[in-house]
Amino acid sequence: MKVKYVEKNLSDIEADIELILVVDKDLDHRFVKEYKDTLKAMKFKGEQDSVAFLAKDKKIFVGAKSLVSSDVRSAVATAMRALIGKEYKSVKLALYTKYEKCTATIRALAEGLVLGNYKFDKYKSEKSNKIEEALISSESYNEFKVDSDSLNRALDKGVKVAKSVNFTRDIVNTPPDDFYPKIMAKVAKDIAKEYNLECEILNKKDIKNEKMNALLAVARASAHKPRVIHLAYKPKNPKAVISIVGKGLTYDSGGLSLKPSDFMVTMKADKSGGAAVLGIMQAISKLGLDVEVHGFIGAVENMIGGNAYKPDDVLISKSGKTIEVRNTDAEGRLVLADVLTYAQEKVKADYIIDLATLTGACVVGLGQYTIGAMSNNEKLLERVEFVGNVSSGELVNKLLFNRHLAKTLKSNIADICNIANTRYGGALTAGLFLNNFIEKENKDKWLHLDIAGPAFVEHAWAENPNGASGAGVRIVTRFLEKVANDFKH
Ligand code: BES
Ligand code: ZN
Ligand code: ZN
Repeated sequence: MKVKYVEKNLSDIEADIELILVVDKDLDHRFVKEYKDTLKAMKFKGEQDSVAFLAKDKKIFVGAKSLVSSDVRSAVATAMRALIGKEYKSVKLALYTKYEKCTATIRALAEGLVLGNYKFDKYKSEKSNKIEEALISSESYNEFKVDSDSLNRALDKGVKVAKSVNFTRDIVNTPPDDFYPKIMAKVAKDIAKEYNLECEILNKKDIKNEKMNALLAVARASAHKPRVIHLAYKPKNPKAVISIVGKGLTYDSGGLSLKPSDFMVTMKADKSGGAAVLGIMQAISKLGLDVEVHGFIGAVENMIGGNAYKPDDVLISKSGKTIEVRNTDAEGRLVLADVLTYAQEKVKADYIIDLATLTGACVVGLGQYTIGAMSNNEKLLERVEFVGNVSSGELVNKLLFNRHLAKTLKSNIADICNIANTRYGGALTAGLFLNNFIEKENKDKWLHLDIAGPAFVEHAWAENPNGASGAGVRIVTRFLEKVANDFKH
């Protein structure tokens, strides 16, 4: 879909349908007033994300609680979703800004348009009609003026990042028989070519040479050989160097500690961390950020078989630390342990961010819609909370480590156990497991994002469709934008 800014009043723009935001339930606003009685008759009150579709008038109204970015992004996306499958090819809307010169809401507007106009219909015989062109008028909701240069820049950023989110959604939604480690490596190579990234793929032999035995154990029973992917974006004058590491479990059956069948469904989404890394690498290259970014992905399938790794096995990880396996379903941390070690050996980074659908416990604790953030650096957590909840619109809560939980990972026969000896605090104990593989000098630089909740939700919510949301792409890209703008050594 194209998003265009048009320096014309709304009534002078030709489009199949007009999208109107009802802000703060204000049915008396000049954009809405004429339809007030009809809307009232339809019991439309302008609640956040409620939609009233007036086909005859060629108008779709949607409620936004305020002109804050997250409200606007969610409302616009919800209206766009309601238009999918209808006959419309073009939509027009006014310019919504919160205050004079405010571009945040404009970026959110663009993101909402692109994020809402998404449906995964690759496997449907009949494809749904989607909007091809969105036209944003210079006519402003509150008559604020924004110069067209900064406006176009904001729109452009919003569209670029949202398209990368959709790219990640497509990967996550693709079934496991069609998306396995080799395919993930192929997609990485393809985006490297298109977006000017360096790309190195480690196949099974290379991974063996690197002694990533924990990752290899997880991969062993699968018909699909694992891959470790390293993408690099290297601008001329980077302000900082950042590594991002993704859990790319193209399927997680649980292994011999097999998941019950109800819990196995949706485990194609266990590649969401890796898919987010691919989307982020694509987005930062499109944005041309002044920050060097290395993306690492452990692409593995966790299956059962005669040669499967077992509870009771002891693995010698790449770091040299030995791990007692007590549950083969806690496989993501094993893969990440080795890839985090590899990433730290390869790149001296200012920040190391991992993204993973790591624990069901994180979903229990925070609910489906929120990312769990963990780190040894509380300042970093605060920054990430702001970037997530305020700028990017991805919900994030911090979870704080403590020394008591750290002890629950002790093993009698190895250096560490892959599960805790307590049923409580599972998101934190998984984070603490990873902390054992973070080098001393990197302790304060590391951020762990557990995206198990929001990565894949089986209903639409806010700007996200049913299925994959592309979790992690917006928050991390925004964080990288901030680092590119104000990082100081
Ligand atoms: N991929 C799962 C975590 C998960 C659960 C992601 C639900 C998305 C939704 C992970 O590999 C896993 O199975 N974790 C176990 C850990 C346990 C065995 C300590 C879990 O959360 O139950
Ligand atoms: Zn698992
Ligand atoms: Zn998993």
